[in-house]
Amino acid sequence: MTHTPAPPTSQLAAQFDALHTARARSTLPAALYAAAMGDDYPDEVAAAGSCDWPLLELMATRLRMHPLQLLVDVGCGTGGIGLWLARALALRLEGLDISPVAIEQASARRIRFAVPATFRVAGLENTGLPDGGAHGVVCVDALSFATNRRAAIQELGRILAPGARLVLTRAVRQDAEPRWEDKAHAAGLIVEHIDERPTEPAMWARLYRLWINHADDLRRELGDDQAENMLREAHTRLPTLPGRRAVLLTLRRP
Ligand SMILES: C[S@@+](CC[C@H](N)C(=O)[O-])C[C@H]1O[C@@H](n2cnc3c(N)ncnc32)[C@H](O)[C@@H]1O
Repeated sequence: MTHTPAPPTSQLAAQFDALHTARARSTLPAALYAAAMGDDYPDEVAAAGSCDWPLLELMATRLRMHPLQLLVDVGCGTGGIGLWLARALALRLEGLDISPVAIEQASARRIRFAVPATFRVAGLENTGLPDGGAHGVVCVDALSFATNRRAAIQELGRILAPGARLVLTRAVRQDAEPRWEDKAHAAGLIVEHIDERPTEPAMWARLYRLWINHADDLRRELGDDQAENMLREAHTRLPTLPGRRAVLLTLRRP
């Protein structure tokens, strides 16, 4: 799925429903992620994006959370990232996603991780959570799909407790000058860390080449529509990757 521009939310939810449904039918997408990430692939997490072992470790470190605190995973997909962090740090978890199919699959994974977790259909821009209720928020490879990124950051800032952190992945052009401080300040947050993820663009390049090389297998396993979406993303984004920069941002509510 391409990252810009974001279609309306209902259309996006339907697209992600189709993606999560297709991927649940086949082990091939996960096998290709595993091949692209090699030793860095955390297979229990089974993320639909860039989440590898180094990212899990970095998020756990940057969140600075305590046992029984509430972690919110927004754009959680099938839930593996939040579930893994909640188990590792003895947290409570609330996962939110616009895709009902993703939420159903995430809910079914709670037994395996044995952590107190709820999953709910909600958007990044409207979480339905109270002010200051979250002791930590993670958002992995989801913010770029928000119809209004500024509103989404403000919403995630609103739900953070004083002193709590939002960690989120971002990818930008290497020659861009992202105004992360300005955006964070507008949401009442400060930029605490910008961690570079220099190996991530090369991982995407390996993954996209694998998708292209396994085009026929993807069509057979996932169906034409889903396979064509993935191949379109691969062909569109592959040439842009040499100029990309990936980071993990940590924003803190003072
Ligand atoms: C690339 S997947 C990443 C899923 C998960 N964070 C991971 O890394 O495995 C993006 C997820 O964001 C969700 N999403 C997209 N736009 C959203 C929005 N506005 N609000 C909440 N979730 C959204 C999609 O349904 C999808 O599950």
